[in-house]
Amino acid sequence: MPQNDTTLPRDLDFEAELTLRRLKPRLAALWNELEVAEVTRRRFEQRLEHYWNDLFHGLFALYGQRYDFFYHLEQILLSGVRGIASRPEDLQEIDEHRVNDPGWYQSQDMVGGALYVDLFSENLCNLRNHIHYFKELGLSYLHLMPLFAVRPGDNDGGYAISNYRSVDPRLGTIDDLKLLASELRAEGISLVLDFVFNHTADDHDWAQRAQAGDKEYQQFYYIFPDRTVPDQYERTLREIFPTVRRGNFTWHDGMGQWVWTTFNSFQWDLNYSNPAVFRSMLEELIFIANTGVDILRLDAVAFIWKRMGTNCENLPQAHTLIRAYNSLVRIIAPGLLFKSEAIVHPDDVVKYIGEHECQLSYNPTLMALLWESLATRNVRLLTRSLSHRHALPRNTAWVNYLRCHDDIGWTFDNADAEALGINAYDHRQFLNEFYTGQFPGSFARGVPFQHNLETGDMRISGTMASLAGLEYAIEKNDEQLMDEAVRRIMLLHGVTLSIGGIPLLYLGEEWGQLNDYDFVKDPAKSGDTRWIHRPKMKWEYLEELNGLINTGQGTIRTRIFKSLQKLIALRHTLPALAGQSMELIDTENEHVLAFARIHEGNRVIVVANFSEYPQSFSGNKLRTAGLGRFFEDVIAAKSYSTSEGIQLAGYQILWLIRT
Ligand code: GLC
Ligand code: GLC
Repeated sequence: MPQNDTTLPRDLDFEAELTLRRLKPRLAALWNELEVAEVTRRRFEQRLEHYWNDLFHGLFALYGQRYDFFYHLEQILLSGVRGIASRPEDLQEIDEHRVNDPGWYQSQDMVGGALYVDLFSENLCNLRNHIHYFKELGLSYLHLMPLFAVRPGDNDGGYAISNYRSVDPRLGTIDDLKLLASELRAEGISLVLDFVFNHTADDHDWAQRAQAGDKEYQQFYYIFPDRTVPDQYERTLREIFPTVRRGNFTWHDGMGQWVWTTFNSFQWDLNYSNPAVFRSMLEELIFIANTGVDILRLDAVAFIWKRMGTNCENLPQAHTLIRAYNSLVRIIAPGLLFKSEAIVHPDDVVKYIGEHECQLSYNPTLMALLWESLATRNVRLLTRSLSHRHALPRNTAWVNYLRCHDDIGWTFDNADAEALGINAYDHRQFLNEFYTGQFPGSFARGVPFQHNLETGDMRISGTMASLAGLEYAIEKNDEQLMDEAVRRIMLLHGVTLSIGGIPLLYLGEEWGQLNDYDFVKDPAKSGDTRWIHRPKMKWEYLEELNGLINTGQGTIRTRIFKSLQKLIALRHTLPALAGQSMELIDTENEHVLAFARIHEGNRVIVVANFSEYPQSFSGNKLRTAGLGRFFEDVIAAKSYSTSEGIQLAGYQILWLIRT
């Protein structure tokens, strides 16, 4: 009978229920075999009842057309049972707490930091001795850049993983990781790790089996005997690393076949249309979660599903897939959150965010537009974007950052720009010229990343301080320029620390670390300018700060460190800065951004001058924004009254509260 005779709508809710009933005895058998605590089993079963319908719908949408769908479904659930069975009891207790407090990460105490273990402290063991450093800075969220076993040679900064179950031996062991996680937890610091799930390294066990001709594992990737299919796909694909390799496929000599490699040639894209890949990666995910991770950064989420004739980014199935993983995590390890890394168009970024998908997301639009405002001294585009792009669904939050280990791409919306009469293409060219220091009068010392000569596309590498003018000021040996650069840096931090969501520092920022031009000496790094902003931690800076040594150049670094430390400490004292909601205030001055943060009856108003020149601002505006007649800037500890106009110095930022 032809397929389309059976287009009667299927009652999936009913099928879901029936299927669960059928699967229960299989699960029961496994529970008995595993001898887990009764309470663990009960938790799992209750949550399974709760999330089953969603999970079933999701997996059905992805894999329901396969003849072996029910087999895979069963395998996925069995993996889930094994996953919770091996979840340590203390983590299960945290799970229970967080189920009852789903906004646990929304507090004003939440401030993040990200670092590379090797560049910061050489290894995981040493890192444990520096927990007080994070505490002193006021951090409660620590993102360790990928630390799992990687392929030899270039490994894309850890993003080419050859084994998700072992730590890179240069950094330590899984036991070191578990110990670190529990020590961080005891100090109130959440651990964030990457889940690099779009691709494995070419020497991962699955890739090796594929190379050895194992058909089952060849199905784990996208492998093609000749160019026919790759050519068809390539008609609509973008290139992510065009200076590394043209196209999205890599010829593999050993197999004599083409492999889909969106990023580097040694990063093989996983084939999630194969349910065995879904299940295998679920097992890796749960293994990582069970080491004691609080937040998983889902790497490169935009790319995980492919369909011919599309750009293979942000496809609906990518969302279905993440939601399915999320449902499973809610059942197995509900204390864990997902943070999405989607550095794409703002309309697409936000689609990954939701209680049932990724609770957290990088905020690349804010990041790019803060740099845009710094270059133009004008907050119009930033304000316009914030006006309709900052609000998020319940129980979710932005992660607001200025720099990270990656490049800056100008991912603002063209229509947002054009509504203001800004030509988006020209504006991106301008920003690239500005941040590579080419534009007359630019203070920035960034370098190009992935310049595509065909499309003119370019992204920017460089540390925060180098982009904000500190490197240039030091070159010029000019005190006033140095002062301006520090003020720019503090202005940007002042915004991300207050605008709503979790602020995230890229460590090194606390010292105003400059570009590291030595990366070119390492052949495994020289082809990738992102290494310019991945310098080693210099512990002598801390000694300098503590007066133990005096290099004579410590004043700026010490000033940045202390100002940032103070700003973070201030954030902790302001409950209005918790949560996510933010209301813009019209300043009638294109150089000045202002917004109100209101949380549980507390109120802070932030006013930020993006120009180097003094600006004024009507006190009345603040009264209507609910500040009353007398108020104080807690940053400079200065009192104001709304009957006066407010004068802002160049690059000054105010955090105002009622007095
Ligand atoms: C993400 C990472 C980036 C990496 C890429 C491939 O974008 O942040 O560093 O190159 O994924 O894993
Ligand atoms: C991915 C990321 C993007 C980054 C690139 C490499 O595309 O999403 O942020 O530019 O990888 O750095």
